[in-house]
Amino acid sequence: MSTYQGLEILLSREQIAARIQEMGAQISKDLVGEKLVMIGVLKGAAPFLSDLARAVTVDATFDFVAVKSYAKGSKTSSGAVKLIKDLDEPIEGQNVLIVEDILDTGLTLTYLRKVFLQHHPKTLRIAALLDKPSRRIEKIEADYVGFSIPNLFVIGFGMDFAERYRNLPDICLMPPDVP
Ligand code: IMP
Repeated sequence: MSTYQGLEILLSREQIAARIQEMGAQISKDLVGEKLVMIGVLKGAAPFLSDLARAVTVDATFDFVAVKSYAKGSKTSSGAVKLIKDLDEPIEGQNVLIVEDILDTGLTLTYLRKVFLQHHPKTLRIAALLDKPSRRIEKIEADYVGFSIPNLFVIGFGMDFAERYRNLPDICLMPPDVP
């Protein structure tokens, strides 16, 4: 399937929406009767968090962090992860769900998990819309995964290439010939 100046769609908005509903139902089941703090990792996770939050039926609040892990315009990780926006509210004693667009090398989520565990949450879970297990450097898995994909660079539904394409409603393949 192709759209937007010939970009190839990997996962359509309908597939994404249906899977997020399923993830929301599973999270609601696992946390029935509990409160939840959903922590989105800016900027890529914003559309996913927005949809996932409306798919859960538990009493949920949001917070956001921002990290820097990719050199601008690069398709490969620099290896270093830095927190550039911290949590607004304390998470001690809370059920925390980290909401991330892609679990790739695992460096970002390994770092965030370590930082958040220092705040002594009651529980700490991870929801990743996409998982690229073949790219993993750190040994980490998400508790909830939308789609497991091969080693492809994707854009859309929050995910960027040099800050572009985040607003595509579908998840598309990044053409190899873009500078
Ligand atoms: P990790 O630390 O290598 O797991 O990388 C996680 C972050 O890398 C994601 O939150 C994305 O921002 C970025 N990333 C990894 N793969 C892709 C991709 O295919 N497209 C866009 N961003 C990606």
